[in-house]
Amino acid sequence: MTDLAKISFAATELADISNKTGRIAVVIAEDGRMAPEARKVNSLTRRAMSRLVEGPGWAKMKAGDVAVISYPGGMQVEAVLVVKLPRRPTVSEARKAGAAMAAKRGSGDLTVLAGNMGRVAELAQGLALRAYDFTDHKSGAPDPAGAITIMCEDPEAAAEAAAPGLAVAEGVFFTRDLVNAPANILTTTSFADQLVALTALGLTVEVLEEPALEELGMGSLLCVGQGSASPSRVVVMQWNGGGDEPPFALVGKGVVFDTGGISLKPAGGMEDMTMDMGGAGTVAGVMKALALRKARANVVGLVGLVENMPSGTAVRPGDVVTSMKGDTIEVINTDAEGRLVLADVLWYTQERFKPTGMINLATLTGAIIVALGHEHTGVFSNNDALATAFLNAAGAEEEGAWRMPMGAAYDAKLKSRIADMKNVGGRDGGSITAAQFLARFVKDDMPWCHLDIAGTASLKSDSDLAPKGATGWGVRALDRLIRDRYEARDQGQ
Ligand code: BES
Ligand code: MN
Ligand code: ZN
Repeated sequence: MTDLAKISFAATELADISNKTGRIAVVIAEDGRMAPEARKVNSLTRRAMSRLVEGPGWAKMKAGDVAVISYPGGMQVEAVLVVKLPRRPTVSEARKAGAAMAAKRGSGDLTVLAGNMGRVAELAQGLALRAYDFTDHKSGAPDPAGAITIMCEDPEAAAEAAAPGLAVAEGVFFTRDLVNAPANILTTTSFADQLVALTALGLTVEVLEEPALEELGMGSLLCVGQGSASPSRVVVMQWNGGGDEPPFALVGKGVVFDTGGISLKPAGGMEDMTMDMGGAGTVAGVMKALALRKARANVVGLVGLVENMPSGTAVRPGDVVTSMKGDTIEVINTDAEGRLVLADVLWYTQERFKPTGMINLATLTGAIIVALGHEHTGVFSNNDALATAFLNAAGAEEEGAWRMPMGAAYDAKLKSRIADMKNVGGRDGGSITAAQFLARFVKDDMPWCHLDIAGTASLKSDSDLAPKGATGWGVRALDRLIRDRYEARDQGQ
């Protein structure tokens, strides 16, 4: 498990600055005007700050960028990180500034001289999110993680304001750890065990095993895992922070490894399919965040955990299975397995919980990467109000999300000669026909969004708020959606 860096808040002690070790970060306004802390560092370093601000590089730095001054004279620290930031930064600038400091924090302590700047809570969240390093499978002693201290004007108020954002960051770390984990470690059963452990935070967690899934008639989900030595599971997580109103539902695709099954994927890059449980990982991260910040809402999170393997018992192309809903599905391509898993979990969620709305997340199609690259998740919905609310939440959190079309002409591609539908609709518009397949398992009046996170759950290069690998995309947006749409009422906002 990757722990959040320890972040504490303290009053500014100008006299202490020269004795700090590790690294120190100072915030300087865009016009180069320095607050007392920056002036102190400037005088200790015999005007190194002034030289930076007066030099040609300063104008080229954007708000939130960091310049590193290594081994400054007159101080103990190994580096001063100079952060360019307006006096009143936006949420985005503050978060990016925190992240930029974290990316350059080194392995020792980090002291941030935030002075009286605004948005210290967002700065702290940015710091926490970017200070992530997945070392579970590196041998040898890990670098001791340094302590992070943010010196600011009102440390008690800052700590209180930062707490919810840091709870959400913990949820993001949980998602990243799950998504980064290899498939021999994160099996269906060990994944379920990790979710059961969330009961310690006050969540109610149930694990449905194969006999129960058979009893429920989940022939669609079960066919995906039938070639694997790991048993299939559905895990139900409930957070009841909101009285007795019906819950909002989150549903995740949890394919712990996707070989493609009998429709085997090519070898090149197949190792990336350890992230094919990203939807389930995100649902888990959101549930953890809600519990940690004691959200005043009722939310259920359901995940379908399976492994898609080829074997003598695996489902074959041409097989027909029966879903819990009762519709029959001709499995044309065993690599289009995520929709088979979600079909049954979506149906079960509606039958059991009658939620006020439902959002599912899945690393569902390569086609969404062709359409949107790695910048935006594809958003498919039957309900403009829910889709808009989600897009607004994602926008506020700067998590890329883009609405995609749906319609009867796409749905027609799923017609099967021998069953009620087939599981693929051809190459063209592949992410949309996948969404149409899911829509067949959503009841008419149920507000629903499908988020195809195949391009955003894990990246090959560093991003603003995460190192390369799992991003935790969507945890912040969904947490905000729940906060704004379901908690706002009783907070009088
Ligand atoms: N898990 C994959 C989708 C995926 C691709 C996720 C790349 C992340 C990165 C999914 O199960 C899949 O294999 N989809 C097929 C569907 C096709 C057979 C209709 C695809 O996208 O090729
Ligand atoms: Mn697949
Ligand atoms: Zn898959």
